[in-house]
Amino acid sequence: MASSKPYQPLLFRILHNATALLALLAIITSFVVYNTYDGRLVKLPLPKIPNSIGMHGTFGLFFLLILPVFAIYSFHAGQKRLIQTDSFKNLSQIGKPSWWYSLQRITNTAMLFAATFAVITGRMMQEKWLPNGDLNQTWYLLHIAAWIVLVISFALHLLMSAKVGGAPLLLSIFDTNIREKDSPKTWPEKIKKWLHRPHL
Ligand code: HEM
Ligand code: HEM
Repeated sequence: MASSKPYQPLLFRILHNATALLALLAIITSFVVYNTYDGRLVKLPLPKIPNSIGMHGTFGLFFLLILPVFAIYSFHAGQKRLIQTDSFKNLSQIGKPSWWYSLQRITNTAMLFAATFAVITGRMMQEKWLPNGDLNQTWYLLHIAAWIVLVISFALHLLMSAKVGGAPLLLSIFDTNIREKDSPKTWPEKIKKWLHRPHL
């Protein structure tokens, strides 16, 4: 386990936290929508919030816009934190540190898939279905399934990050400290290098 304080690149913090915030807002507002118009599985005694569908649609749309940007970052600069070719092999070494690191990377990757599932099914939803009581539309049921998958992946994402790095890792994502070599002044140069990198 790392003894020095973990540091997250500034661009990663910005993209990750914007994505995470919008995901949370979409998850919360969608629950309000479900609770107002559906409530078949569980129903909480919440007050009816007018226009919850509009609010959810807006947060959902912003989430849909930021997700590809964050995903591109993750697949390139953040690749080390995603699933690796040996991740599944390491899963046979139950309980070893490499097992936990592999699980953490698998759950990071699962977040991207779960989020993609939620936005695709959301895109296929029609605003009128729920107010019309049309609750058995396939895309709606898949969209609900996406909520469940995303919430479970999110819980595992936090648990696994806590397991491999504890509170210092979880908090490192909210740190406001910027290292000199990570300053936005260096970004144009880095992007230029990345665009002109030798192709394999
Ligand atoms: C408050 C909530 C959250 C916290 C505290 C948190 C924490 C973290 C931390 C600490 C890392 C870095 C792991 C490492 O350095 O090994 C990370 C990575 C990641 N998180 Fe989160 N996370 C949160 C919410 C989310 C949400 C909602 C999503 C997706 C929609 C998400 C997707 C990811 C992904 C894809 C990575 C890996 C990115 C990469 O490849 O560089 N996280 N998260
Ligand atoms: C209980 C779970 C959910 C319910 C009942 C629900 C409900 C809805 C409804 C009624 C719409 C149509 C609104 C419109 O077109 O303006 C919608 C769209 C959408 N939802 Fe959800 N949703 C749920 C979960 C989620 C989650 C977890 C996400 C992503 C994190 C999400 C992302 C979206 C997106 C991206 C759209 C499309 C927005 C657009 O294209 O304008 N939804 N959802």
